[in-house]
Amino acid sequence: MKVLESIFKPYIIKKDYDGGITRSEISHSDWKGTVWKLSSNENILGPSPLAQRAIIDNISNLHEYGFRDDHSLKEAICNTVTYLRPENIVTANSGIEVLELITRAFIQPGSECIISSPTFIAYKNMIENEGGITIDIPLNQKDYTIDIEGILAGINDKTRIIFLTNPNNPTGTYTNKESIDHLMDSLPDDIVVVYDEVYYHFVDAIDFPRAIDYIEKGKTIIGIHSFSKAYGLAGIRLGYGISNPEISAYLNNIKRPFMINTLSMVAGIHALKDVDHLNKTLTLIKSEKQWLYKKFQTLGIKYWPSHTNFIFFEPKIDLDLFINKMLHQGIMIRPCQKFGAPNGARVTIGTREANTAFIHALETIY
Ligand SMILES: Cc1ncc(COP(=O)(O)O)c(C=O)c1O
Repeated sequence: MKVLESIFKPYIIKKDYDGGITRSEISHSDWKGTVWKLSSNENILGPSPLAQRAIIDNISNLHEYGFRDDHSLKEAICNTVTYLRPENIVTANSGIEVLELITRAFIQPGSECIISSPTFIAYKNMIENEGGITIDIPLNQKDYTIDIEGILAGINDKTRIIFLTNPNNPTGTYTNKESIDHLMDSLPDDIVVVYDEVYYHFVDAIDFPRAIDYIEKGKTIIGIHSFSKAYGLAGIRLGYGISNPEISAYLNNIKRPFMINTLSMVAGIHALKDVDHLNKTLTLIKSEKQWLYKKFQTLGIKYWPSHTNFIFFEPKIDLDLFINKMLHQGIMIRPCQKFGAPNGARVTIGTREANTAFIHALETIY
């Protein structure tokens, strides 16, 4: 209808990012065995048992408004992540919601925002929903590191946000401290760097830079953290951003009272205390990653060494056909065309049982 079109914002249109498919969407598959969901970088060990207990204990409180603000969660974060203080933190219903708060807070129609494909495609949707313009400075093709000089050459007066995903999704690669230092030292203070480090728990590299390194130096940077990955709480939708107190207070202004629901709040607080679950998760990912590398090598499949809980690889056959063939053997993995990797697929690292099923399915295709 013409009238409605005139009141709709022209830049709010259907965008590419739909998230990965869920189990319920694959009911058309004729596979009768176990379905392994290895498509969304979730924690195969499930939610933290302490978080589950806390959810059950709080179900009978749901008739009441729970937490007017996020103070207790911020305290719990600071008890675990000891370099943070509550005034550094802004919590939200998922890492994506933190990203959304940031794009709402900083983008004006016409603002330019830099992303580096192949990467997490949700940034583009959020930029464009605020009327911003996405500028893609692709990763260096040889090793999927961030093209620092390309980004520096791409900034101008309209540049508002630079999204750095480190380690990167879907490639699992990381960009080292020396390179990020150089970028941060060269940027003007009025460009906001969104430093998405949601997979940081899985990184072993000693030269991996963290958002806190730059927050402490007074840089205009916001680190993105999520409870969906190492903490195993993707379904609860909880995340937080970290920055200097001025930026965090500014972002906190946008938030509404009671924004984080009671169950998310207690789940997050208890997942942070569950060191045992976190350590089990990290140990599993580390050893299974090595097992999977060997299998990829034996099968002659090109893959990229990963600093995350997933591995990016190139199937030798048409990508859609490949994904479909895997699905018909009960294996859900993620095609990466929409991330900007037309020939790439991404598999979440699972338990040995899940990984064996994945490799077995691969072997029947190769
Ligand atoms: C790089 C990156 N950033 C942010 C997120 C958002 O995580 P969530 O919204 O589940 O907290 C994801 C999820 O896959 C991701 O891969």
